Amino acid sequence: MRNKILDMTTLDKNLIKSLDAYIDSIEGDKKEHLIHVLHKAQELFGYLPQNLQLYVARALDLSSARVNGVVTFYSFFNEKPVGKYTISVCMGTACFVKGADKVLDRVIEVTGANKNEMSEDGLFTIKDVRCIGACGLAPVMTINDKVYGKVKPNDVDEIIRHYRSREDESK
Ligand code: FES
Repeated sequence: MRNKILDMTTLDKNLIKSLDAYIDSIEGDKKEHLIHVLHKAQELFGYLPQNLQLYVARALDLSSARVNGVVTFYSFFNEKPVGKYTISVCMGTACFVKGADKVLDRVIEVTGANKNEMSEDGLFTIKDVRCIGACGLAPVMTINDKVYGKVKPNDVDEIIRHYRSREDESK
């Protein structure tokens, strides 16, 4: 984490209360449960902004660098607000050699969101991830829990259009 002043007072007090209750309920050495606490914090707040990471660090008596190291290591943690749909493009070796980078480029183009960021319409967050264990379907991308295999860059437009029209219909 950069050396800047992080204001923890802006964190929602009710959510902090719930997080504190969760931390208090942990038996034994709370530091050992950092990942669980971060999951709980993300579940409550939707993502893990830096002031929340600092709060967790203080609550567990860990360094903020340690907490941030864990948050940035695991792709399921988000430091920024996330869209309704998380698009994860696998960049593992099998997917990469089959053109996953071109798929990712197309996803970025079509959604208008950068990697690890949310699209302006709040619908999509884009991630590149390590092997998800479906190498036979390379290149693979997932949207929330749905897996798309053997994806070509040209397929991306149609897939994204499907999610956008689903949203339009629900308005
Ligand atoms: S490398 Fe992409 S699923 Fe294994």
